[in-house]
Amino acid sequence: MTHQVDGRRPRVVLGVGGGIAAYKACEVLRRLTESGHEVRVAPTEAALRFVGAATFEALSGQPVRTGVFADVPEVPHVRLGQTADLVLVVPTTADLLAKAAHGLADDLLTNTLLTARCPVLLVPAMHTEMWEHPATRDNVALLRSRGVVVAEPASGRLTGADTGRGRLPEPAEIVELARLLLARPDALPRDLAGRRVVVSAGGTREPLDPVRFLGNRSSGRQGYALASVAAQRGAEVTLVGANTTGLAEPAGVEVVRVGTALELRDAVHAAAKDADIVVMAAAVADFRPRETVEHKIKKTDGDPEPVALTRNPDVLVELVRDRRPGQLVVGFAAETGDAGGDVLAHGRAKLARKGCDLLVLNAVGDGRAFEVEDNAGWLLAAGGSERTIPHGSKAHFASHVWDEIVHILSE
Ligand code: CTP
Repeated sequence: MTHQVDGRRPRVVLGVGGGIAAYKACEVLRRLTESGHEVRVAPTEAALRFVGAATFEALSGQPVRTGVFADVPEVPHVRLGQTADLVLVVPTTADLLAKAAHGLADDLLTNTLLTARCPVLLVPAMHTEMWEHPATRDNVALLRSRGVVVAEPASGRLTGADTGRGRLPEPAEIVELARLLLARPDALPRDLAGRRVVVSAGGTREPLDPVRFLGNRSSGRQGYALASVAAQRGAEVTLVGANTTGLAEPAGVEVVRVGTALELRDAVHAAAKDADIVVMAAAVADFRPRETVEHKIKKTDGDPEPVALTRNPDVLVELVRDRRPGQLVVGFAAETGDAGGDVLAHGRAKLARKGCDLLVLNAVGDGRAFEVEDNAGWLLAAGGSERTIPHGSKAHFASHVWDEIVHILSE
């Protein structure tokens, strides 16, 4: 569900810089319009050498201009920025970062950046050398010090044969970050800079034979959103993903892939050694089959035997036991109410039982939380404080979790 602004569709100005990643702006545009945003595209002249204006006009349903001398009576160079709820620039080239940092305004997009009073999200894409150049580092630092959100780029394949940091984050992640800023303009401060974070995500699968497993319904999306938001707030993030191959890797995050609870346990403990914060968002199977049959179990093997199970280690409890001084351990709980108590009562009992510093609590059942886009819940801290997380996207939910973690760390 798209967050409305004063009961109307949110207005996004999508700036497009002149880099090869401009073609991915089309996907961002399509996702934004399909999820109920009104989008005006403001490409640079150079961007139009990569993608034609007709493509942006067709996808946005709006005219596309690059300069300030078209439609002069409407004063578009001022109006566009003034009336926007978000200015998003995909891709932001090194040249655009420099212009934005120094207030240059020689086309419609750079004028819009000067007149915007709304959140501004610049999503860089450039070669690693350009991203790491001291001029670019200084421009990024200057822009961030003014409250502009300059996203962390991804690592991976760049234009041509080279790979490295500077790749555009996936369009789905860009749109999630954009929607987050529309809902919460202050959701991406750099308050996790210098922190090492481990997040586990997804659901473990415990094999019965080479083709079958005992699993659960966790998609991993909430854990991925936690990792994405942490990286964008400046943290160094390791994401341990259990069976999350369908999800796009968040930008700036190191992903370790695992399958079973025992694999997840090893990966989390290894990454937790020098972490400041460990967040156990994964749904870890409490039991695994005592034996994994080496070949596929066949109907012709005879009547089925009951599956004998054995207990898996509780990774969260182990993390709490091994916790270094100053390290913060966060657990998740997905609960339904029952005869033994309501969701909150179960959450409080679990917080006490697990001994973690913070428990993030979701109500599940009736299609809530699992495999859905939105989430809501509670934050139960070991110190006794309890807060609700209002309904919103999984990135929105994640931003509330990180707010609380930063708050606990500051105490
Ligand atoms: N967890 C874990 N290792 C396990 C099981 C759970 O680390 N073997 C972690 C989860 O990642 C989560 C928290 O513990 O952060 C709570 O998970 P949950 O399954 O709700 O806890 P359980 O102790 O299994 O409680 P229940 O009896 O309600 O299933």
